Amino acid sequence: MKKPETRATLYVVGNINVDLIMSTLREWPKKGTEAMLESSSLRPGGSAGNCALALAALESPYRLVANQGHDQFTFWLASLFPESAPHWPTYECETSLTFGVTHPDHERTFFSNQGHIVRLSMQDVLAQIPETAQPGDWVLLCGTWLCTALYAEYPQLLATLKDRGYFVAVDSGWPPQDWSNALREQTATWLPFCDALLLNEVETLGLADSSQLDEAARRLLAKMPNNAFCVVKCGPDGARLWAANLALHQPGQPVEVVDTIGAGDSFNAGFLSALIYGLPLATALQWGVRVAGCAISSSPRRYPDWQSLFGLVEKT
Ligand SMILES: Nc1ncnc2c1ncn2[C@@H]1O[C@H](COP(=O)(O)OP(=O)(O)OP(=O)(O)O)[C@@H](O)[C@H]1O
Ligand SMILES: [Mg+2]
Repeated sequence: MKKPETRATLYVVGNINVDLIMSTLREWPKKGTEAMLESSSLRPGGSAGNCALALAALESPYRLVANQGHDQFTFWLASLFPESAPHWPTYECETSLTFGVTHPDHERTFFSNQGHIVRLSMQDVLAQIPETAQPGDWVLLCGTWLCTALYAEYPQLLATLKDRGYFVAVDSGWPPQDWSNALREQTATWLPFCDALLLNEVETLGLADSSQLDEAARRLLAKMPNNAFCVVKCGPDGARLWAANLALHQPGQPVEVVDTIGAGDSFNAGFLSALIYGLPLATALQWGVRVAGCAISSSPRRYPDWQSLFGLVEKT
């Protein structure tokens, strides 16, 4: 099969950082002691980083729009994204790093520094995205609540991206300070420029201040542009999509889960890749679920190749 062509690109904007995950912490250690754990893994992470890793494996046309710190990790992260990293501005600060421990019940506890991601600015982002979009270009904004300087500029950033002709998607994640009416009012200043929300169930309910998904999605759609849609990622139940006159459901893949980190980010990569190739929303849901299912059931992590994803298109 020859890879279908597209002139469109997906620009992924947000947090790329270092993840150090250690397993397994059975009980919380006493202050001042040392605990030996069986294993550790050091890898790139962050919502934008996870999504970009999946896009690279899918060979989708993408750019990772980010910034970087200035320490031993800087070169390593940059070396993983050779086409994007030369455009990242450097800040004289430590690299953003998350240290996590897993517990026997698969719960995890994370500690993060601030590092470069809190310094990413609108100017940094706009300098890395062409002044005029190609037809079908998408920008995905993720790590919303962690990229704090960028979040302060969201209304202007989204408006500018729309002016430049891009479709804009947002996967905000869960706000660490929890939802409040003040936060909801802030989101109302940028939702009118947001063509797609890619949230999970509790995020959708929290943002819409609703206890029912269908109602929540419709409430959010009412604040978004015409033709916008809300995607709701539902874990093992797959993903749902609501648009003005459309409701879709793609069931989850029955997989044995080994590592759910970045499930939602891998979904985003599959879903938006399909849109970059001009495929229908139902296919995009299939691609999202397939990429996430493959990612979370493999260790070391694997992703489907583009041949198997386009194979799904032929079947339908
Ligand atoms: N247990 C599971 N079994 C099968 N598929 C799953 C499972 N958990 C997640 N997925 C797949 O991954 C996708 C995204 O996962 P989820 O709904 O948990 O999003 P999320 O909460 O945003 O994830 P993240 O915590 O990575 O941000 C789902 O839509 C589904 O396709
Ligand atoms: Mg998520």
